[in-house]
Amino acid sequence: MSQKSWWPNSAIYQVYPRSFQDSNGDGEGDLRGVLARVEYLKSLGVDAVWLSPFYKSPNRDGGYDVADPRDVDPRFGNLDDAKALIEGIHKVGLRIIVDIVPNHFSTDHPWFQEALSSPIGSAARARFHFYDGRGENGEIPPNNWNSIFGGPAWSRTTDKDGRPGQWYLHLFDSTQADLNWENSDVHQDFERTLRFWLDLGVDGFRIDVAHGLAKETILKDHHDPEALTRALRLDVTDMPDSQRAELLSDVPFFDREGVHEIYRSWRKIFDSYPGERISVAEAWVHPSSRAARYVRSDELHQIFNFDFLVAPWSAATLIPAIKRTLLEVAEVSAPPTWVLSNHDSPRLVTRLGGGEDGEWRARAFAQLTHALPGGIYIFQGEELGLSDGELADEVRQDPIFFRTQGRDKGRDGARIPLPWDSSNNFGFTNGKPWLPIPSQWSSKRVIEQDEDSNSSLNFYRESLRIRSEHPALKGSSDYRINWLDAPDGVIAFERHPGFTLFANTTSRELKLVAPPGVSLLLGSRPGVRLEGERLTLPGDSTCWLTKLK
Ligand code: NOJ
Repeated sequence: MSQKSWWPNSAIYQVYPRSFQDSNGDGEGDLRGVLARVEYLKSLGVDAVWLSPFYKSPNRDGGYDVADPRDVDPRFGNLDDAKALIEGIHKVGLRIIVDIVPNHFSTDHPWFQEALSSPIGSAARARFHFYDGRGENGEIPPNNWNSIFGGPAWSRTTDKDGRPGQWYLHLFDSTQADLNWENSDVHQDFERTLRFWLDLGVDGFRIDVAHGLAKETILKDHHDPEALTRALRLDVTDMPDSQRAELLSDVPFFDREGVHEIYRSWRKIFDSYPGERISVAEAWVHPSSRAARYVRSDELHQIFNFDFLVAPWSAATLIPAIKRTLLEVAEVSAPPTWVLSNHDSPRLVTRLGGGEDGEWRARAFAQLTHALPGGIYIFQGEELGLSDGELADEVRQDPIFFRTQGRDKGRDGARIPLPWDSSNNFGFTNGKPWLPIPSQWSSKRVIEQDEDSNSSLNFYRESLRIRSEHPALKGSSDYRINWLDAPDGVIAFERHPGFTLFANTTSRELKLVAPPGVSLLLGSRPGVRLEGERLTLPGDSTCWLTKLK
């Protein structure tokens, strides 16, 4: 009998290395720091850890501006530290996934530097998207696209003689030059990088901007670039759904057919290694039904489903989102995934209103998510119930803040280092943390939460433990759930065998009738009670019931 796959129902914990644990007192987290906390990772009850980039980088975009994808940036340590971490994570029985960033290289990458010093039309320039400008003196960019981070998607170079030269494309920061995936050097180099990390033993990759690699019609203006930029932004909410859907259904630089060929070739590489090496796509595609195309059986393994990352805590939104997701992935027999937070979005508690109410909603939302079929991703600190920290503009580092002239505060609030204990700087660093840790986080420290059976941390541990043990949750390839009738504002379903969930997304306490013969497994907040068949659900709570003894 073949061994069961480890990944379709896995719980994967995202470590943002710069903010996890500092080991050398420079105020920034590093790989040795992660290694020192491996027992903590193990204690959570997750299956794997995904590390955001720790590669050589000038760090203009949190390391997503890679200058050497096969080396470790000194701020994070060195290659030996990476090897030790891979080994250390494996030793405690966890798996490790690393990021790969194929849409762009840092402008510090030797290829880009070589391109700058090479003539127009040279092989070195062909690895990127270099074009002459339009207008009499080439002063108008080759097309009118905007950067996702704000401002134009093109920057002009300066030639050796000091005169303005060609333009290069950057969908993100101007220090992140888009690679040309029509170029064979690019293909070969990324294959080399995949093999490099696979040879070192990583169990898979999170693929950054996985929908962006293939571009079409570069030398053509978009009919409404400003509207397109707004449509791509999650925080723009005043755009009619129909307009957004129309704009997003045809983005000249996202979700083009050409990306799939690349992933088919990568899949062959993953499959050629022993053990199951996996890949998860970061790809925002529209309509969401297009996501299934990335996880066809000869392409990638998972694609993040970001529905929950932006959804309110509301049954009216969540039920259709769950139904749609399950239907879509079922068509390609791929497992669904669920994501509540990551380093690019406000923290869950903050998004759900903040304060104590936000914290209870976050727990209820997590408990719902942990009961769904498929894989889940948990962003570091989500288990501690952290909210976004307030930051002064002077300490912000996110290029989004700078490229929007401060109109958009950016993502630093979700990237503040973790509070561990009562020593210096919450045990994160002996130096000055790269972002200040809010003093109010003293009640959120791991050391306190560890001791408190009602803490968010222990709630996550319990929820993940049950998830990995209950026969209905621990993983089958049957991704269906059986919906139950429920009052407005309530989510109710069963999973086979013997598992029932009720989630009350309203702020009122509700009395419901539970199925016969069940007992209470887990409630997301005090006050969830089962007396006979009478189930009491406080506002913003989730409960799990079991029929199994
Ligand atoms: C998605 C990453 O998660 C984000 O942090 C980064 O800024 C962009 N891709 C560009 O690489």
